[in-house]
Amino acid sequence: MNTLAFHGGKPVFEPEELDRLLPPWPPHLPETEEKLLSIYRSGKWGLCGEYEKKLMEEFAAYQDTKHCIWMCNGTTTLECALLALGVGPGDEVIVPGVTWVATAQAVQYVGATPVIVDIDPDTLCIDPEKVREAITPRTRAIIPVHLYSAIADMDAINAIAKEYGIHVLEDCAHAHGTKQHGKGVGSLSSFGSFSFQLSKLMTAGEGGCLTTNDDHLADLAFRLSHIGNSRLFPQEPLPVDLECHQYRFTEFQAAIIYDQHQHQDEYRAKRQAGAKLVIEYIKDIPCVKMQKSSYEDDDRDYYFFTFLLQKAFLKEGLTREQVLAMIRAEGILLGVGWGCPLYKSLAWNSSEGKYIKHNTDVCEDVMYNRLMAISHRVLLAEQSVVERWAEALRKVMLACTK
Ligand SMILES: Cc1ncc(COP(=O)(O)O)c(C=O)c1O
Repeated sequence: MNTLAFHGGKPVFEPEELDRLLPPWPPHLPETEEKLLSIYRSGKWGLCGEYEKKLMEEFAAYQDTKHCIWMCNGTTTLECALLALGVGPGDEVIVPGVTWVATAQAVQYVGATPVIVDIDPDTLCIDPEKVREAITPRTRAIIPVHLYSAIADMDAINAIAKEYGIHVLEDCAHAHGTKQHGKGVGSLSSFGSFSFQLSKLMTAGEGGCLTTNDDHLADLAFRLSHIGNSRLFPQEPLPVDLECHQYRFTEFQAAIIYDQHQHQDEYRAKRQAGAKLVIEYIKDIPCVKMQKSSYEDDDRDYYFFTFLLQKAFLKEGLTREQVLAMIRAEGILLGVGWGCPLYKSLAWNSSEGKYIKHNTDVCEDVMYNRLMAISHRVLLAEQSVVERWAEALRKVMLACTK
């Protein structure tokens, strides 16, 4: 029973068994099928339809903001927010070395320079002290990323931004519905940028939105992303001197997200309960260190359930790849996130010479040697299934401990 599958024992899950035991993701909601058919038949497929308008109100309130503007994805939302904040050529924007490429690409798209800094070894979000060290007279903004739903230290980041008179834009692509000190992410700075791409906690295949409490920024972001039209379209005239984009959302996306949103608290509670259970199984194992959120009172989620290997407690000579192979032999779907820091990603293929990079030792150690990550989908499984994979994880990690 306790012989690892890697060493010839019986695996906890047969090949692909765990995948079959997981609930479908994205969720299939019957009410959404009806809505999609009715939208299809109505011909009202876009231009701020009924569900997009509802979401503009409801998702804004959900994240504790006044406004929410919907766009086609979470890269265009970052770009649009930077434009609205007046960031452009000659400016520098500080980003963490561990994030999806979009965080830095958006900076590049507006003609500014991404400045990459190290992450905090506990939260894996941007390290506020490293932000401070990277500030120059050209710095215009900071983009903290709430990585894998752990929330960046917004108190520290906002204090630094205030001291130097620079903007903060939260990348909330992994953090729908999460809160710091009781306030929704995306309400803790000038803008929150959310993605609804297929892997995310809420999804319509693709999609994005910006949240903000600032009336002027909301108007500007709407116009910038809707080829100049205002939220009162068509009553207000187009601006003559604003360089705008076409980043609109469709009513099909809106209907799908609208229905998921009605269940989001329920899904989050399930993921939180699943994560709590797994943590109970592995928290006392010395070679395991959980990714933390910044504050005790953070109401976080788990876009990925993540932990780090503690090399000092691993059996002599064991590499992360060997540990992974042992876990996978038990039939568990564990991965390593993006597998490299932002600036090494092949997906950012026009990055050469277009960024400034500070010391990123923590990013490299985490991404190349230590991070273990599993998608949120496994946390939505029945409790007995979560228990089984938590037990399997415990069995392997104990065997890997010195
Ligand atoms: C941290 C982060 N920011 C931004 C994005 C961009 O979102 P999208 O894929 O919707 O353009 C992603 C998406 O994967 C992401 O993970």
